[in-house]
Amino acid sequence: MTLTYAGLRRTITEQDRKGVVEDFPKVAMIADPELRRLSIEAWAYALCCSDFHRIMEIPPEGNTGAPVLRRGTLADHLRGVVRLTAALRTEFRTAWPEVSINDDVLMAGPVCHDVGKPFEFDPTNRARWARDASASGQPTFRHSVFGMPVCLTIGLPAEVAHIAVGHSFEGLHMGLSSECVIIRQADHDWWQVAGTLGLLTPESMPSRPTYMRARPIA
Ligand SMILES: [Fe+2]
Repeated sequence: MTLTYAGLRRTITEQDRKGVVEDFPKVAMIADPELRRLSIEAWAYALCCSDFHRIMEIPPEGNTGAPVLRRGTLADHLRGVVRLTAALRTEFRTAWPEVSINDDVLMAGPVCHDVGKPFEFDPTNRARWARDASASGQPTFRHSVFGMPVCLTIGLPAEVAHIAVGHSFEGLHMGLSSECVIIRQADHDWWQVAGTLGLLTPESMPSRPTYMRARPIA
């Protein structure tokens, strides 16, 4: 049996890091410079574990096949989740100043929550999984699961890796940090609002909640 090693396929270069910042300028919302550097490094590392060279090459899908945006790339979704997370923080902190939120975790979290997607969406991986899922699993790891060791390998705090694994289905089997719940909500709401406003492909709509109806777009 041929074994697969899911590590770096190429050396990380400055070009990779520069591309992350160009495609995803919202990384600037991470105030702590070291956390910001590590978050950029995590994306560069994850890209180099795949055939993708840029975040904007990754398709705009929540999970493989559904939900799928009609247009755009994963970078559009990531930007939206960062902004929505920040808006939730502003709302609750303004109305309830006594609440406590870790700003570093809250901003590094949405930046890194989908860092496992280069692996799950990688065409080479997907072709291998389709050839013999009984050997590889399909996928071998979902993006949430692959994102967690990416964060830890790069040296990001466990609180950020927790958000990578907890923001998706796996979070249903864990106790989640408050920051993870806020980001998970922003992520899921982003897809649901995109769905009801008609921004998802009709083929991917059956995966949406039964109550949802998509409004036609102009
Ligand atoms: Fe997401």
